[in-house]
Amino acid sequence: MTKDLTQLEILTELEPVAEQNLNRHLSMAKEWHPHDYVPWDLGRNFAAMGGQDWDPSQSGLGEVGRVAMITNLLTEDNLPSYHREIAENFSQDGAWGTWVGRWTAEENRHGIVIRDYLVVTRAVDPVALEQARMIHMTNGAHSPDDWGGFLDNVAYVTFQELATRVSHRNTGKVCDDPIADRMLQRVALDENLHMIFYRTLCAAALDLVPDQQIEAIVKVLTNFTMPGYGMPNFRRNGAMMAKHGIYDLRQHHEEVVLPVLKQWRIFERNDFGPRGEQAREQLAAYLTKQESDVRKFEEQRDRLLAREAARALVTV
Ligand SMILES: [Fe+2]
Ligand SMILES: [Fe+2]
Repeated sequence: MTKDLTQLEILTELEPVAEQNLNRHLSMAKEWHPHDYVPWDLGRNFAAMGGQDWDPSQSGLGEVGRVAMITNLLTEDNLPSYHREIAENFSQDGAWGTWVGRWTAEENRHGIVIRDYLVVTRAVDPVALEQARMIHMTNGAHSPDDWGGFLDNVAYVTFQELATRVSHRNTGKVCDDPIADRMLQRVALDENLHMIFYRTLCAAALDLVPDQQIEAIVKVLTNFTMPGYGMPNFRRNGAMMAKHGIYDLRQHHEEVVLPVLKQWRIFERNDFGPRGEQAREQLAAYLTKQESDVRKFEEQRDRLLAREAARALVTV
């Protein structure tokens, strides 16, 4: 039986792959500026500067758009927590260190542009937003207790980047504002490039330590929560976003989990030992259960939406 590689051995082995993909990322990533995506001419002072404070009638977004924007922004705001997690586990040397810095700087742009848009357009209550940010960042992001290390983290961020791409993209659509849509398309493009970097590194780790990496993937998927988990009203807001197709279980299953597993050829590989085989079986059972959960979720949602539509007819 072969011995597990240590984290340091894995990071050292994969450093050339990290360097190659860092360079690929830098050649693909286009420079963009948050200020180019914000309609500044809609801005005006708040009461502290002689203007008028926020009031709900000023918002041009519907409730779902507001909730999704706030959820996505608070998720981006928690960057210091994610940075800490990634910096601790990817090492700060060589290509790894450059990637961590670059990725952090790119992620910070997302929070900047979304906040500027929301405040300038008065789409959401800026005081409530700030209060929620304080609570969320003070709590920080927490992964389950038995998570840690490069292998768990690289698996998690692969799925998480793709999940945020889907969520930003669909939030843009639901806002019914071409400016918001364009901005979130831009952010989603970044998330896609991030996902590709992590997915490629995770694939290289699968080739290097197949059993160790598949175990990490299964652990991460069977305990997956969105990065915003724990923020104020996350359950209620997450449910509303799922109900309106911004991020729901079918999207998670079909647009996030399955394509990534397919890319890694998880069910075609023949390099797993007994441990890896066992993990793969556990994953197969988990996916079958998720498929039936998707159906249950959609039936429930259809019933709920039909009931709401019937109630709306009665009150008209
Ligand atoms: Fe982001
Ligand atoms: Fe990202």
